This record gives sequence, C-alpha cells and structure tokens, in this order.
Amino acid sequence: MRSHLFAHCVIWRYFRVFNQRFLYMILPIVAYGAPVLRKVCKDITPDFPKLTKLIDDMWETMYASNGVGLAAPQVNHEIRLFIIDSLQVFENQDEEDKGKFKDEPGVKRVFINAHIKQLNGQPWSYNEGCLSIPKIREDVVRPEEVTIEYLDEDFQPKTETFVGITSRIIQHEYDHIEGKLFIDYLKPLRKKMLSGKLNDISKGKLKLDYKMMYSK
Ligand code: NI
Repeated sequence: MRSHLFAHCVIWRYFRVFNQRFLYMILPIVAYGAPVLRKVCKDITPDFPKLTKLIDDMWETMYASNGVGLAAPQVNHEIRLFIIDSLQVFENQDEEDKGKFKDEPGVKRVFINAHIKQLNGQPWSYNEGCLSIPKIREDVVRPEEVTIEYLDEDFQPKTETFVGITSRIIQHEYDHIEGKLFIDYLKPLRKKMLSGKLNDISKGKLKLDYKMMYSK
C-alpha cells in the first residue's frame, strides 16, 4: 500500500513537471484598440469553465512577456480576474532603490471578483507601462493605499490593504477589469502626442518579443 502511494506521488510529480513544460500556454496579449479592453468586466462563479487552466496560462503569459501583472481582458476574457507578482520588482531592484517601498518583498496573488473598497494616502507618481500598450511608458499619479475585497484562487473571500509597488500594480490591473487604461490618466495634450504611436500599436505595426492579438 505504502509503495503504491509512493509510486503515485512520483507519477504525480512527473506529471506536474510535464504539465508545466508542455501544457501551459502562452496566450496572445490583446493590443490597445480592442473593445475588450474597454469593458467593465463581470464577476464569475467557481464553475467558470477551465478557470485553473486559464490562471496557469496567465502566469505563463505574464512571465514570458516580463510583466508584473496581467488582467483577464488582456487575454480576451471579459471577467473580473487579474494576477500580480510584485516579488519580481524587488528581486530585480537597483541597489539605490533598496528600502524605498514599504511593501518589500512584494506579493504574488490571484484576484477574482475584486472590488476596491477604499483608496487612501498621499497620491504619488510612478512611471507605468502596460503589456497591451507596448513601448509607451508614462508617469501616472495614484493614491498610495488600496483596500480591496476579492476571492483568492480557492474562492476564499479576502479583504486586504496594500501599499507601495504592490498597491500600484493592483490599481493598474484593477483598472483593466473596469475597462480603464493608464493612458486615460494623461493630460489631453500628452495623449494627443502619443496618438500616432497608439495607432501603430492597434494596427500591429510594432516589432515585439511577445505575441499580440489585434482587433480588425
Ligand atoms: Ni496593463
């Protein structure tokens, strides 16, 4: 019985390794201009089809494109789901930035059916980018703290307050499930100056090192 269990564990472990190597997919990222990026996304239930697979694929996609967060509409799903990994920010931090952010060492989290309860603290500016809007980075002002209600990947309800870079990433990804993009915060003149670049992105004219999906 014991050896049977052992064999089972070994097989399971190899299956998992195999799974990670071959079964998770890197999904194309929806480019600026697609209507799905402008939708207010809907809550989901635990029976949402292939949710675990979707979340695994989103991790795979986010890491493959060197992102620190990814929201479901960016992989063409109109649902309230996003993932973040701010651990990476601190791992790759410059020496001079050490100790600058209160949320060190960061967190890795799945947020399902998230709803922001409160935004608090001193607004601060940070240079943001977005996988759906490649090669554009702009300073965006956001409040310091976010208190958010959400379900984790096991559909357990949580309410948490985040600060620092983690709060920043959460607010950016949360905007995605509300149909908002970071460029919406720019002054009209600045946005006008970027309109040519944005047009090129939506038409797929940029050379990128990750796969994108464009609306016709
Ligand atoms: Ni984004």
